[in-house]
Parts: sequence; C-alpha cells; structure tokens
Amino acid sequence: MKKAIVNNVYWVGKVDWELRRFHGDEFSTNSGSTYNSYLIKEEKTVLIDTVWSPFDEEFVENLAGEIDLNRIDAVIANHGEVDHSGALPCLMKHIPNTPIYCTANAVKSLKGQYHQDWNFVVVKTGDKLDLGNGKELIFVEMPMLHWPDSMAAYLTGDNVLFSNDAFGQHIATNSLFNDTVDQCTLMNEAIKYYANILTPFSQILRKKLEEIVALNLPIDIIATSHGVIWRTNPMQIVEKYALWANDYKENQITVVYDTMWNGTKTLAEQISEGIRSADPDVTVKVFNITKSDINDVMTEVFKSKTVVVGSPTNSRSILHSVAGFIHMMKQLRFKNKKGAAFGCHGWSGEGVNIMSAMLADAGLEVIDEGLKNLWNPDEEAQQKAFQYGKTIAGF
Ligand code: FEO
Repeated sequence: MKKAIVNNVYWVGKVDWELRRFHGDEFSTNSGSTYNSYLIKEEKTVLIDTVWSPFDEEFVENLAGEIDLNRIDAVIANHGEVDHSGALPCLMKHIPNTPIYCTANAVKSLKGQYHQDWNFVVVKTGDKLDLGNGKELIFVEMPMLHWPDSMAAYLTGDNVLFSNDAFGQHIATNSLFNDTVDQCTLMNEAIKYYANILTPFSQILRKKLEEIVALNLPIDIIATSHGVIWRTNPMQIVEKYALWANDYKENQITVVYDTMWNGTKTLAEQISEGIRSADPDVTVKVFNITKSDINDVMTEVFKSKTVVVGSPTNSRSILHSVAGFIHMMKQLRFKNKKGAAFGCHGWSGEGVNIMSAMLADAGLEVIDEGLKNLWNPDEEAQQKAFQYGKTIAGF
C-alpha cells in the first residue's frame, strides 16, 4: 500500500519487522528495518529503488495495485546492493525496456549480480531528469557512501533528497517519519548504523557533506532507504553526520574482554574501577565480548576515546572472540583513539603483546606495554589492575 510523503511523492517500500541480522550475520538489527522505495507521479512517473529480494513479488504486486507498471517512465537505482535492487529482476520482467538511471559503477554492480542487460542510463553528479510540472530530479554521485556505485537524487520543487543508505537507520516502523518514533531509539540506531557501516568512509563523507552544502539546495525532507524519513528538522541528521565523520569521540573509555576462568574478567572490573576513581566524569563501559552484541559494542567503541582490550593467553595466542573484535575495529578504521591491552596467563603469556600489536595495526595509539598478570589475580594483583585503570584514565 502506498503512503503519501509530500505532494506526488509516495512510499511504496517494505517494512521488515522480523529482520534481526543484516549483511549476512555481520550486523544486528534489533529494531528490524525497512526497505524504502519511492514513487513520484508527476507528468513522468518514476520509481526510486526497490526492496530486498525476499519481498520482490510482494513489492511488484503491490506496485501494480497502485499503478499500471507500464506507466513507469524510469527507475532510479541509487545503489546496487541487494536490499534495494533485489526486486529489480522481478519488476523488469514486466517492463524490460524501461530505463534504469544509475551510476556507471551501479551498471557494474547490477549486471554483476543479476546478469541482465537492462536499459541502463548512466548519470553523473549534476545530471537531471525532467519530470514535468516544473520538477526535476538532480543526481549526486556518492561514491563509497557506502559502495562505489552509490548516489542520491534530489527532487526540485518538493526539496526531497533521496539519500539511499546515507542518513538511514535500521528501524522497522510503519509510521514513516522521524517525528513519529521514539527519539532515543532513533538516535541510537542512527549512530549504530553510522559506527558500523559508515565509519570507514568518514573522510569521504566529510567532503561529500561540504559538496552537498555548497550546492545550496533547500532540503525539506531526507528520504533514506532504511528506517524513518527525516521531515522534522531534517538537517539534524546531517549535522550529526558532520560531527560523527570528524573522528568522533566522547569522554568515554570502553573495556572489552573475554575470559576463561574469570581472571581476566577480574582485571577488567578492577581496571574499570580504577578509571572511574581517577576521573569521575568519564563514562566507563565494560563488555564481555562473547556475551554482548558486537555491533552495539562497536557503537560504544565509536564513542570512546580509549579502548582497553583483555584476553587471557591461550595456546600462545589470544581468544578468537577478542581477535575477531580487534579485526572488526581494524575494518572500521577508527581514528584518533587510544588503546591498551591486559590479560592473565599461566605459562608463556604472549597475549598482551599480541593484542597490543593488533591494536596498533588497527590504527589505535597504544598507550603502553599493557598489564600482564600471572595466574588468578590476588589482592595485590587486583590493586595493580586498579592502578592500571587510573593510569589509563590519565592518558
Ligand atoms: Fe548498502 Fe541498504 O544497502
């Protein structure tokens, strides 16, 4: 069922209330998500993006209930990833000659996934599509936000920016707009989305935001491809992105560990107490990575100035849970963060050195040689961990 956004712009997407994992199992979507597709009905009728492939037939059936598919003059594919292009094969069977406007890279990604030689029309930044009634779509390439093929489309007259993944959040809602959902959930999901998906591209994003601002286009609505549409103070999310893209950190220190027989857990707790005692203003968060949602932890890492990582030494190495966690930090290319390592050992004790090297390789500034503890921490060792926490707070 289509829903009105503004004037002749309608939402024709899909709400996925059940979604809990995304990008395979890489990303947790505890609030579900939406795949937002938009129909513009001016003199020309244009469809912007589709939905994920499991919903392809439902999507096309619903769309056909709203409009004669043959009356669609153009499809805009802002991004080739399957959550937005997944219904294209089903749709294009009905309208095989309809032009698909997209970037040159999207031709590659769409052909690469669907192996179809559709009627592609390649567009670049500044290219326009006249919709009649005095309105046009202006295309803006958004390479690496977050794929090389990404772009946005701006609708003149109604001042709607169809931003695709940018400014999105994984929230399932059928109320459409940012002023209709819980604001705390909205901002938590928005920062989680940024931290886990867009952090590696922050430098590119900073330039793109400047470019968009320089275009001086009035923006009344930001219609993303996931979650709510920003219509009330839409620039609030642009301002947040400008903040988040600038090596974001708060006065927070996050301790992340795994433990075998609770020795390293004891160190983690003492370190956190030491940090707290040295700096009552700092936010301290502690996570056993095996008992936590790694994407939520990564959001806390995003907010942190320092990340303290612990693992016992196991088989001359560290636990795979902690290795995977540091690997993910490396993938996300966090900038301007400090790191430190700690852990218990019974025999050879390589773990702390290994973690320190991995943290440095992940781009964190390692503050010292870390804290090693032989066997289970006794009272003295716990005091040492407490003091180590105070040291970390001082950096
Ligand atoms: Fe990059 Fe929502 O797909």
